[in-house]
Amino acid sequence: MQDPLKQSFLKEIDEIKSIQELINIKAKYIGKKGVVTERIKNLGRLPSDERRSQGKILNEIKDFIEETIKNKEKELKQKEISESLKKEFIDITLPGKDFYFGGSHPVNKTLLEIIDIFKELGFTVEEGPEVELDYYNFEALNIPKDHPARDMQDTFYVSEDVVLRTHTSPVQVRVMEKKEPPLRFISPGKVYRCDSDISHTPMFHQVEGLMVDEEVSFSHLKGVLVYFLRRLFGDIPIRFRPSFFPFTEPSTEIDIGCIICGGKGCRVCKGTGWLEVLGAGMVHPNVFKFAGYTEGKYRGFAFGMGVERLTMLKYRIDDIRLFFENDIRFLRQF
Ligand code: PHE
Repeated sequence: MQDPLKQSFLKEIDEIKSIQELINIKAKYIGKKGVVTERIKNLGRLPSDERRSQGKILNEIKDFIEETIKNKEKELKQKEISESLKKEFIDITLPGKDFYFGGSHPVNKTLLEIIDIFKELGFTVEEGPEVELDYYNFEALNIPKDHPARDMQDTFYVSEDVVLRTHTSPVQVRVMEKKEPPLRFISPGKVYRCDSDISHTPMFHQVEGLMVDEEVSFSHLKGVLVYFLRRLFGDIPIRFRPSFFPFTEPSTEIDIGCIICGGKGCRVCKGTGWLEVLGAGMVHPNVFKFAGYTEGKYRGFAFGMGVERLTMLKYRIDDIRLFFENDIRFLRQF
């Protein structure tokens, strides 16, 4: 016959659903003040023969209850785990989220290529400030006060004497003030002009170049720039046109045969078959004077180019604004 204590315990434990309920039952039966514990404590009051048999029964019940609780606990925990596994199922075979690596901007790619070519020719790299004194941007480059390039429409003025540089040419004077020839350097950087359309942005990049020594001639200018253009664009036609810059004399603009139409004439070259890519010339004596060089001692050539324009031609991009929109679909193509 089953002990009624055991019976009521079995009935209760059968109905429980949580670990907390199990803890309660454990306390109720075999805790410090549990029913079984109390009865064991009271054994001493029984006559000695009864005490022994009752003690044996109670100890068996206690062991049984302990064992049953242990098994129930295992069962409940197992159930908890399988339930949470069902709820929080993760399909590790699903494909992961794609992510993309960054890349260099096409303008920067061209810039680095230009620097590499001139480095091979022994040119070093110099830098100058983007917020520039009127003096270096204009005055010391032989651009007089009434020159049209100073027009408010083109130049961003910070104050009467300070501008956002409109070209990289001021670096010529800054370097010459500090260093005596022989000089052979390029100076890449940002420049600013108040202009905005399909081929102009208010900020763009230029690379300036300067070579000065006692015997530098126009043939050196031609040799260096023809070599440079052929390295950048391959075997293309090149022509030198007479031009004017206040800081060079004589001055030239250099064209390459249109790489879009092959010289036949198209929208990009405006039907001429040629594309202007460089401004250059022999350094004007007045610029040497502003740099503080002894009159007549040195000769040199300077040149300047727009990096966005070269990049557009190289990659056949027809709208300069694409460079600055940061559309990942555009940038990913390079
Ligand atoms: N600074 C000129 C420009 O921005 C380019 C140039 C540089 C021309 C050096 C001659 C010599 O158009």
